[in-house]
Amino acid sequence: MNKYIIGLWLFVLSINANAQHNLPGDFLSKEFHAGRREAFRQKMPENSVAVIFSFPERVFSNDVTYSYHPNPDLYYLSGYKEPDGMLIIFKEMQKNGDRSYNELIFVRSRNPLLEQWTGRRLGADGAKKDLGFAYAFNTEKFKTFEIDFKGFKSIQYDIFPDDAGSGTLQSLINTFSKKAEIKKRENKYIIQAHNLLANFTSPTNLANRVSRIKASMANTEDSDYRNDPILNQIIQNPDEATLAMVQKKIKEDPAPSQEYNKLISSLREIKTPEELVLLRKSIQLSAIAHKEVMKAITPAMSESEITGIFHYVHKRYGAMDEGYPPIVGSGGNGCILHYIENNATKVDNQLVLMDVGSEYHGYSADITRTVPANGKFSPEQKAIYQLVYKAQEEVFKIVKEGTPFQDLNVKTTEVLAQGLLELGIIKEKKDVSRYYIHGVSHHLGLDVHDKNITPVLKENMVITVEPGIYIPKGSPCDPKWWDIAVRIEDDLLIGKSGNENLSVAAPRKLEDIEATLAQKSALNNLILPKLK
Ligand code: GLY
Ligand code: MN
Ligand code: MN
Repeated sequence: MNKYIIGLWLFVLSINANAQHNLPGDFLSKEFHAGRREAFRQKMPENSVAVIFSFPERVFSNDVTYSYHPNPDLYYLSGYKEPDGMLIIFKEMQKNGDRSYNELIFVRSRNPLLEQWTGRRLGADGAKKDLGFAYAFNTEKFKTFEIDFKGFKSIQYDIFPDDAGSGTLQSLINTFSKKAEIKKRENKYIIQAHNLLANFTSPTNLANRVSRIKASMANTEDSDYRNDPILNQIIQNPDEATLAMVQKKIKEDPAPSQEYNKLISSLREIKTPEELVLLRKSIQLSAIAHKEVMKAITPAMSESEITGIFHYVHKRYGAMDEGYPPIVGSGGNGCILHYIENNATKVDNQLVLMDVGSEYHGYSADITRTVPANGKFSPEQKAIYQLVYKAQEEVFKIVKEGTPFQDLNVKTTEVLAQGLLELGIIKEKKDVSRYYIHGVSHHLGLDVHDKNITPVLKENMVITVEPGIYIPKGSPCDPKWWDIAVRIEDDLLIGKSGNENLSVAAPRKLEDIEATLAQKSALNNLILPKLK
C-alpha cells in the first residue's frame, strides 16, 4: 500500500470514529431548511441582504456553559445548531469572481482537540454535506470575504445579542457592523418594551403591563432605556388614548430589526406540514407526561420530584429538553406566573399548578394542568377550576381562521369577570384584572412564545389557550379563596372553520383529572434508600 492510500484509510477511520450513531431519524431535512430560505428570499425587498447570527453561549459556572440553545431563526433557515455561526441570504444572485450565489453560511471551524472536550462540530464541509449549502466557510473567512453591504438598498438583521462575549460571535458582529457601517446598536430592552406596547390588545390589563415596564426601567442602569420618550409617555398616562398614540409612533418609526422580524415572523407563524409533525409529537408526549404525573402525584412529593417525572417522560420519548423552565407550584406558589424554583419539599393537600412542556427537535409544547395533590378538589378549588374551564371552553369555540387574536382575550375577560362577580370574589367587573393578570394566548413553535405578525388567526397557526385565576394570600376577598391558583393551558392548531386541540391526551375535565389521580403509577413503587 502506498503512503497516500494508508493516509486516506486512516483519514476515513478517524471520520468514522468521530461519527455519531443511533441518532433520531426525524430531524427536519436540509430540503425543509432550503425551502424556508427560499420563502424568506421571496419576501425580501428588492436589492436587499439578510444577516442572521447564532445566539451566544451562556455561563453556568466559572468555565462551564449552559447546554446550548440555538437561535430558532437561524435553525429554521439553515438547520445550523451551533454557536458562533452566521447566515447571509441575498435577494438576488451575487457574482464574486467565478462564484455566483444567493446564500452563504459561516460556521465554526473543525478542531479535533477542542471537539474532544466540548463536542463535535459540523465545520464548513459538514455545512455543505449535511445542510446543503453550496458555499460554506469557516468564520475566520468572513473578515476578508468581499461583500459590499453598503451597495444594498436595505439590510435585514435582528437586534444583536447584548452579551455576545469577546470571542468569535462578537468578532462576526463587529466585522459585519463595520462592513455595513452600522453606527448604533439597537437597545434590546427598549425594542422589547415597544413591541409589548405595539402588540398590546387588552385595555383592562394596561395599567398592570405599564407597571411592569416601569419596574423594569427603575431596575436598570441603562440611561437610554430609562429616558426613552415613548415609554415615559405611557408611564405618565397609562390610558387607552395614550396607548393609541404611542402605538402609532412606534409603527411610524420602526427600528431596523422590526423589518427583519416582520419577514421572519410572517413565515414562522404559519406551520408547514414538516413542522407540524414535530410540534404534534412534542405536544402529545408532553400531554402524556402530564397524565403520568397525575397518576404518580402524592401530597408527600416535592415540587422538584414532580418536575423530575416530567423530565423523565419527556426523555423517554426522545425530547432532549424543555421548551421553557418548568413551573410546578403548590398552593400560593401557583400565583407566581413564572415560578421556577420548584423547591417546596412537600406539595401537601394543595392544588399544584404544573406548566410544563417539552422541546422536541426545537419545537416547544406549552401545557398547564392544575390538580389537587390529594385526589379531590375542595368546593372552593372546584368553583375556581370550573370557572377557568368555562372560560377556556368559550374561547375554544371562537378559535378558527378569521378570528381577530384580541377577541380571545376579550372573551376570556368577559367570562372570568362574570364568574368572579357571581362567586363574590370581586364587586365590579373591572376588578377581574386583579386575579386574571396575563393574556390568554400566544403562538407556539420553535419559541414557546413564538414569533407572529398577523393580528387575525389563520389556518396552520398553533396557539395556546390559557385562562387563569390567581388569588394570593391577603387578596381583598373571603380568605377561603386565598392561595388558590388555577391555570388550564392547551395547544390548538387553527383550522379553516375550527381547531384541533393537540394536547387532548392530558386530562382536563375535572372528573377526568380526579379519575386519573386515583390511578396507580409504577413510579410509586420506586423506593430509594435514606441518605446518611
Ligand atoms: N409557559 C409559559 C407560558 O405559558 O406562557
Ligand atoms: Mn403559554
Ligand atoms: Mn405555559
